[in-house]
Amino acid sequence: MRILVTGGAGFIGSNFIRYFLHRYPETTLINVDLLTYAGNLANTEGLTAYAGYRFLHADINDRKKLEPYFAAGLDAVINFAAESHVDRSIDAPLVFAETNINGTLNLLTLAQCHGVKRFLQISTDEVYGALGPEDCFTEESPLAPNSPYAASKAGADLLAMAFFKTYGLPVLITRCSNNYGPYQFPEKLIPLAIINAIRDEPIPLYGDGLQVRDWIHVDDHCRALERVLLNGRPGTVYNIGARCERTNLEVVRTILELLGKPEHLIRFVADRPGHDRRYGVAVGKIRRGLGWEAQIDFQAGLAQTVDWYLKQQKWWEAILSGEYNNYYQRNYGYRLAEKEDKDR
Ligand code: NAD
Ligand code: DAU
Repeated sequence: MRILVTGGAGFIGSNFIRYFLHRYPETTLINVDLLTYAGNLANTEGLTAYAGYRFLHADINDRKKLEPYFAAGLDAVINFAAESHVDRSIDAPLVFAETNINGTLNLLTLAQCHGVKRFLQISTDEVYGALGPEDCFTEESPLAPNSPYAASKAGADLLAMAFFKTYGLPVLITRCSNNYGPYQFPEKLIPLAIINAIRDEPIPLYGDGLQVRDWIHVDDHCRALERVLLNGRPGTVYNIGARCERTNLEVVRTILELLGKPEHLIRFVADRPGHDRRYGVAVGKIRRGLGWEAQIDFQAGLAQTVDWYLKQQKWWEAILSGEYNNYYQRNYGYRLAEKEDKDR
């Protein structure tokens, strides 16, 4: 099998490549990544041991650089590459359209031109918008994205499906809920809370901290993607999730308990603008159609993740000493100041 994976130096992409090459070591796999602030070659450590693994430093918008790899023939493209952080999309939305919409369109046109056999678009449950206290997102829920990030992902989904309908490109779309696990960039809630707790630093919780996310371990997500890639029906959307809804406050409290740290590290700060209140994903379609179900219990998966961050101090210290730190200071300081202004 010859596959091209984009965004494989990021969190989910690197976990997926490691999982997939372990299962199918004969695969030729080209990892295309621009190495933005979120891309990190340390995430791909060990992968060069596989004879078929190649890394290509490129933007998914760079047609010239990518074309020869498509022209050589591909069994599949898996598009993980994206600007993935909601807060950044609120501060600076343009690059979200550039990568998530234009970049996906570029890959779709290349795939169509060169007869790629399967195109797996990695989407998100955020395209469905926000839920009230009841119900769940199904694959039939209308697209109603609220953040610039979610809107850009919804745009990519619509383009991908248009390529299936118009040109017959064998497109599959997955929409997964919130992932956690090793190698997640520490701007996202779980790694940020773990690292701040280890360092005895405040953990910012937006608004009242009672927003609900539906958490899944990245290994369960990778297993689901394997099923969709190999057995999914082209032209189909599959939701992925572990039916594990928690408030952000519950998640952070669990992390503090696991690390034996005090609750006073929690700081309630100004809310994220347009903050989606609740996500919850129905997964009957992938269970019935492809026989997939999440296997990792949240408490056990979170304990394993906390342990990983405790052992991989060098990995995250390198990130904290660079660009991330500046972003974090700016973002957190701004939100904290805003909240304090409101309280006065
Ligand atoms: P991430 O931010 O950790 O990684 C994104 C990767 O894409 C990075 O390696 C980055 O360098 C690369 N990239 C960015 N722009 C690029 C470009 N123009 N060309 C080539 N490479 C580029 O993201 P993640 O959390 O691993 O998410 C991966 C995918 O999964 C995204 O499409 C995201 O929307 C989707 N998703 C994420 C979650 C989650 O909880 N993290 C849940 C559902 C879906
Ligand atoms: O649902 C899938 C999506 O999950 C993915 O598509 C996105 O790529 C991924 O970033 C994630 O989006 P969220 O916005 O849900 O994740 P984040 O970790 O940024 O935030 C999780 C919740 O925690 C959310 O309600 C906002 C809140 N939060 C986040 C941060 C970073 C805080 O309260 N404090 C924080 O410092």
